[in-house]
Amino acid sequence: MSARIRKAVFPVAGLGTRFLPATKTVPKEMLPIIDRPLIQYAVDEAIEAGCDTLVFVTNRYKHAVADYFDKAYELEQKLERSGKTEQLELVRNVLPEGVRAVFVTQAEALGLGHAVLCAKSVIGDEPFAVLLPDDLIWNRGPGALKQMADAAEASGASMIAVQDVPREQTASYGIVATENFEKRQGRIRAIVEKPKPEVAPSNLAVVGRYVLNPRIFSLLESTTPGAGGEIQLTDAIAALLEEEAVNAYRFQGTRFDCGTHIGLVEATIRYALDHEKLSDSARQLMANALSELGVEELN
Ligand code: UTP
Repeated sequence: MSARIRKAVFPVAGLGTRFLPATKTVPKEMLPIIDRPLIQYAVDEAIEAGCDTLVFVTNRYKHAVADYFDKAYELEQKLERSGKTEQLELVRNVLPEGVRAVFVTQAEALGLGHAVLCAKSVIGDEPFAVLLPDDLIWNRGPGALKQMADAAEASGASMIAVQDVPREQTASYGIVATENFEKRQGRIRAIVEKPKPEVAPSNLAVVGRYVLNPRIFSLLESTTPGAGGEIQLTDAIAALLEEEAVNAYRFQGTRFDCGTHIGLVEATIRYALDHEKLSDSARQLMANALSELGVEELN
């Protein structure tokens, strides 16, 4: 793999049960951080990395995702007539010109691996990215996927984003064992899904960004359902690394797990504190809230 990635897959067909009842009607990926839904942050990251074809793997209940990326004629006309040019630009730039959105359906939530496999016909025979929008990654410099795409182009290997996690948390992640780790990347020797801390091969956890060789599709096709009856992407990656180099990439940036309540709260606070218009009032609000609750000092 030495070609530049152009296509990105967004698996958004999960049930989002941790955010019920909100996710009865609002897909998890449409939950906002300030004024933009999670999916928009992931889409912007993919476009920055050079992707011009965005493949959304959705299900029949997730019209909101497709509607969001569709043209909103009536709204645009109204904003134009009332001279709200700033808002008009925001609405139009949800997808910049030259970027194509493709929607494929995952009829049944059979797992992340199965969701990626649903994108096969659109991806074809070229390397591609996978982004899980509920892993929100914030960085002052280049986004995580751009960092990985640059590294993948240079090395020719598939690339999986990793971050260090406290050892007691390994059972919540896919964990990789690596060799020859240099600077930000190392070759993966093994990948284990959710190991207990005492048997985890490291504390390097897989995060929702991948650059994958298309060979993964045939491996997914022969992957049998694993934990929870789901077709796991991790199992196909384990098979891929038996055949060719797959590297772990320790990206620069902070990752928020917006698939959990506290992760979404944390991301909202951090984005508000860093926001050019909201920062001062967010700081004040937080200081007031802490003092009202009797929290004098934070350690
Ligand atoms: P998660 O397990 O984090 O998402 O899957 P979920 O199942 O939607 O959420 P909970 O656990 O019930 O709260 C990781 C990613 O894989 C997608 C999800 O949409 C999410 O982006 N996914 C998962 C699919 O697209 N299809 C699936 O069958 C499973």
